[in-house]
Amino acid sequence: MKTELLITGISQLATAEGASAKHGRGMSELKIVKDAALAISGGRIDWVGARSDWAGDAATTLDLGGAAVLPGLIDPHTHAVWAGDRLGDFEARVAGATYEQILLAGGGIRSTVRATVAASIEELVALAKPRVEALLRSGATTIEVKSGYGFAISAEIAMLDAIAKLAAESRARILATLLIHLPPVETEDRPRYVEQVCSELIPEVARRGLASAVDVFVEQEAWHVAEAEQVFVCAKNHGLAVKLHSDQFHSMGGVEMGVRMGALSVDHLEAAGEAQISSIAASKTMATILPGVSLHLGIPAALGRRLIDVGAAVAVGTDLNPGSSPLYSTGAALGLAVRINGLTAQEAVVAGTVNAACALGVTDRGRLEAGCVADFVVLRDKDWRELVYVMGANPVREVWVGGRRVVG
Ligand code: NIG
Ligand code: FE
Repeated sequence: MKTELLITGISQLATAEGASAKHGRGMSELKIVKDAALAISGGRIDWVGARSDWAGDAATTLDLGGAAVLPGLIDPHTHAVWAGDRLGDFEARVAGATYEQILLAGGGIRSTVRATVAASIEELVALAKPRVEALLRSGATTIEVKSGYGFAISAEIAMLDAIAKLAAESRARILATLLIHLPPVETEDRPRYVEQVCSELIPEVARRGLASAVDVFVEQEAWHVAEAEQVFVCAKNHGLAVKLHSDQFHSMGGVEMGVRMGALSVDHLEAAGEAQISSIAASKTMATILPGVSLHLGIPAALGRRLIDVGAAVAVGTDLNPGSSPLYSTGAALGLAVRINGLTAQEAVVAGTVNAACALGVTDRGRLEAGCVADFVVLRDKDWRELVYVMGANPVREVWVGGRRVVG
């Protein structure tokens, strides 16, 4: 059978092998094929290997002229839909206020909720489009986007409707997550809100297929472990995967509960210690670390090196959001993971590709192997390591989604 498109002139093709999550030392196993070729038909990969091993027939051949190729990056954690800005918070933090103090005073996430609920779905989509485009240009071909700035049930649904519209109009693949972000301000209203989430919000999200996972922010100023567990039981009963924002400022048992509940991922982990790290390492739950948050908020970096050394499977995302991580580059998140979380270049690429796919529960991407979607990035340089090395310029020359060049 004739392949539709054969791509040659690939100086190095760097990819993880196999759909399973890479744990511990397995994260170093990045295969580098020199002078490679990639055969594509119907938006999927037919064949990958050394150019000299290609024995097939191609309708068209494209020579990249000696550039490195990697799988399309997967950004497993973003809040790309929001309105308003947090420049006031930024100034206040530079002047010494903390993220948590601003939140407790009714600012922070709560100010973004106020701005977001005041915007129409069309406005939210228009605001989010250039953000998603920036992530795509940085190499992300699949991007997770969370709700969570709606709060009221109808406003969370509106956010998910905005994400669905964004997905339909975007050249990147978008996966939606329902985020139960902040509780009501009054303590006595919390059980009622959880009840509404479980009896109204989650059933509607599941029925309309608006999200594939439910995320809860577990923190002193947010939800407590027992409340998050109640939401997770409901989510799982409706066939949705679960994940958490956990151990960002305090370790309150979120990681342990997430692991026990079979969460796809536990995200943040800046405050996670040895006990939490061991519990993740002994599980199938992915540890998603978000270096942009440590950089922007000046909080400790998640112990990425330690997580990998004890056998955990680590993924990396931007956490693009206005408050804790205004980081518009998935590629740069990987470079930061090398510099501030102690990952090697190989581990960072695995964390941003196959492991990030596992953090989203998808198996047909994040690697360049026959049968996978033909989503990949072409670098400006011949060496794959440029992806995590370059700072302040974009090392990505082209981005391909489903066998079509969408950037470059
Ligand atoms: O991943 N920590 C909770 N949620 C987001 C931040 C959202 C915001 O500050 O607007 C996070 O850091
Ligand atoms: Fe987040």
